[in-house]
Amino acid sequence: PHCTILGLPLQAGTGRGGCLMGPDAFRTAGLGEVITSQGFGLTDLGNLPFPASVPEVTGPAHLKKLPEIVAWTRDIQTQAAQLAAQDSFPIFIGGDHSMAAGTLTGVAQAAAALGRPQFVLWLDAHPDMNTLTSSLSGHLHGTPMAYALGLDSFEGIFPPVPAPLDPANICMMGLRSVDEAEHRFIAELGIDVYDMRRIDELGVVKPMEAFLRRVAQSNGLLHVSFDVDFLDPEIAPAVGTTVPGGATFREAHLIMEMIHDSGLASSLDLTELNPFLDIRGKTATLMCDLTASLLGRKVLDRRTRGL
Ligand code: ARG
Ligand code: MN
Ligand code: MN
Ligand code: MN
Repeated sequence: PHCTILGLPLQAGTGRGGCLMGPDAFRTAGLGEVITSQGFGLTDLGNLPFPASVPEVTGPAHLKKLPEIVAWTRDIQTQAAQLAAQDSFPIFIGGDHSMAAGTLTGVAQAAAALGRPQFVLWLDAHPDMNTLTSSLSGHLHGTPMAYALGLDSFEGIFPPVPAPLDPANICMMGLRSVDEAEHRFIAELGIDVYDMRRIDELGVVKPMEAFLRRVAQSNGLLHVSFDVDFLDPEIAPAVGTTVPGGATFREAHLIMEMIHDSGLASSLDLTELNPFLDIRGKTATLMCDLTASLLGRKVLDRRTRGL
């Protein structure tokens, strides 16, 4: 088995600086060693360069850094489509979550070319499902899921979506901050959502089993998009949009372990890490350990890692 890392140092989708340093913090925390110690070969492609040209686009005036994010989306989509077509597991390390406008649509394009359905497991406090017109903050990291679903408002501004996601193939876990418009879109499209209230009640095993079974039954490909703020801020403080009441250490590891056991994951985003807000690499290290679980590390193999 083999993994490919691609760093995506973008932060124009957020309100605060720091995500630019995310890819290097993941590497410093040992992401490469995590991958090779699980028996994977590793190609680290380094970081995608800042877009060489930024298109002249105009959209709703309250959107922040729109041309820059359109350019990143174009470049990331091309890379993601290529990497997903290869025989190596791509790990996209961000960078703010607007990167997913490119990764989701790129991997879905590759899946469509193979004639296989693309599934997405979205681990996040937020659905990031605002359209360009519904966004209240103007921060584009709140919009990538709406774009990848082919919702209105992006056309003529963002690159065309090669293969829009099927809402029936998305599972969101960890939600606890949802805007009114997002709530409406989720209900209209019937997206499978496990907010923290439902996780409190059901745990993570039943929802994960049900979702993974659906992926397996349709011979689907599974992209996992993991926003740091899925986790409780107590264990993962290094993110600009912390929301109390997030997933625990064990809930998160168990999800990763179940993904590994299913053998279904085909690509991964690690996103929104802001190293400027971290405490001695604590969050970056936890995200690397969670990736180790997704790649097959067992509880009994785990070594104590000092900080
Ligand atoms: N819903 C809010 C917005 O649209 C927050 C989005 C937070 N997204 C994130 N990727 N952290 O601005
Ligand atoms: Mn997010
Ligand atoms: Mn989030
Ligand atoms: Mn709980």
